[in-house]
Amino acid sequence: MTNVRVGIVGLGRLGKVHAMNIAKHTPGAELYAACSFVDEELEFAKNELGVKKNYKSYEEMIENPNLDAVCIVSPSGFHPEQIRLAMKKGLHVFCEKPLGLDVEDIEKTIKVINAHPEQIFHLGFMRRYDESYQYAKKMVEEGKLGELTVVRCYGIDPSSGLESFVKFAGASNSGGLFADMSIHDIDIVRWFTQKEVSRVWAIGKNAAYPELDQVNELETGAAMMQLEDQTMAILVAGRNAVHGYHVETELIGTKGMLRIAAVPEKNLVTIFDENGAVRPTSQNFPERFAQAFKNEINEFIACIREKRQPEVGAYDGLQSMKVAIACQKSIDTNQIVDLDIKVMA
Ligand code: NAI
Repeated sequence: MTNVRVGIVGLGRLGKVHAMNIAKHTPGAELYAACSFVDEELEFAKNELGVKKNYKSYEEMIENPNLDAVCIVSPSGFHPEQIRLAMKKGLHVFCEKPLGLDVEDIEKTIKVINAHPEQIFHLGFMRRYDESYQYAKKMVEEGKLGELTVVRCYGIDPSSGLESFVKFAGASNSGGLFADMSIHDIDIVRWFTQKEVSRVWAIGKNAAYPELDQVNELETGAAMMQLEDQTMAILVAGRNAVHGYHVETELIGTKGMLRIAAVPEKNLVTIFDENGAVRPTSQNFPERFAQAFKNEINEFIACIREKRQPEVGAYDGLQSMKVAIACQKSIDTNQIVDLDIKVMA
C-alpha cells in the first residue's frame, strides 16, 4: 500500500503536534494537506513539514481526491460536522477529544460513522497510548489490584498556559472544564473499570484568575462519581498548577493500589541546590504525552493499513461526554445528577 495521505484541520496548540508527528514520525503516512484560518500556521506546514496543499476552508480540503484520511484538531464545537462531512466523502477520520459538545449532535455523528464501517474512526484519548497508563491497565486486567473500589484523578493545566487558554476559550466554546479537561479522566475511569458512571456531584471555585470568569470558565473543579457497580471516582480538574502540567491517577483496589505520576516528573534528574532536592516537572501536554501522541497517530495509520478499528472510538466519546455534561449540570444546578447509562440503540 502507498502512504496514507492525511489532511489536517487545525494547526494550533495541539494541531501542530499532530502535524509534526504525521509528517515526521509516522511510518506509512504523508501529511498531504493542511487547513487553518491562520496564515503563519499554513506557512509553517508548507515550509517546515512539506505539506503540498494548504486550505482555509475544510469543505474545500476534503474535496481533494488525493486524500485518504483527515486528522481533526479544530476547536471542539466543529468536530461533529467535520467528522460527518469526511465520513460521507469516504475518508478515514482521526478526531481530537471531545467528540462534540452536544449529545444529540454526537449521536447524529455516531449514526454517520456507523453507516461507514469500512472507514476507520479513531478518537484522540491519547492517555490510553501512554506507557505508564498501559502498564497500570495490564496490572488491573491481571487482577493484581483485586477489585477496584476508587479511582482518583487530577488533571490540572499549568498556570503558564492560562493566557493561551483564555484566547482559546474566548474564540470558541471549550465545553467547560469538565468537557475540556476532565474528559480524559472520565475516559480513564471507564477504561480502567470497564463500567459506566451512574451519578455525579460537582463543585468548583475561581480564585486566582478573574479573566476565567469573563470567558465563563472554571479555574478549579471537583467531581465525585458513583459507577454502576458502586465503584467511586474522584476527579479534580484545573487551570492553575504553578509547578507545571499535573496529570495524576490513583487506583485503589481490594489487593493493592497504584499511582501514576504522583509527582509529574519531567525526567529522572534530581537537582540538589539552595532549594533542597528538586525534581523538575513536565510543563505542558505536548511534553508529558509526547510519545502517547505519536503512538495514537501510529495506531490510526496502522488501523487504516490493516483494516481494523482502534480500541477507542465514537461510543467512548459519547459516554464520556454525557458524564462531563452531567458534571456541568451539577455545578449549574447545585444538585447531584443521575445519568442515563443505557447503551445507545
Ligand atoms: P487552538 O485554538 O490552539 O487552534 C485551533 C486551530 O483550528 C487553529 O489552527 C485555527 O486556525 C483552526 N480552526 C478554527 N476553526 C476552524 C474551522 N472552522 N475550520 C478550519 N480550521 C479551524 O486549539 P487547540 O488547543 O489546538 O485545540 C484543538 C482541539 O484539540 C480541541 O478540540 C481541544 O479540545 C483538543 N485538544 C486536546 C488535547 C489533548 O490533551 N488531547 C490538548 C489540547 C487540545
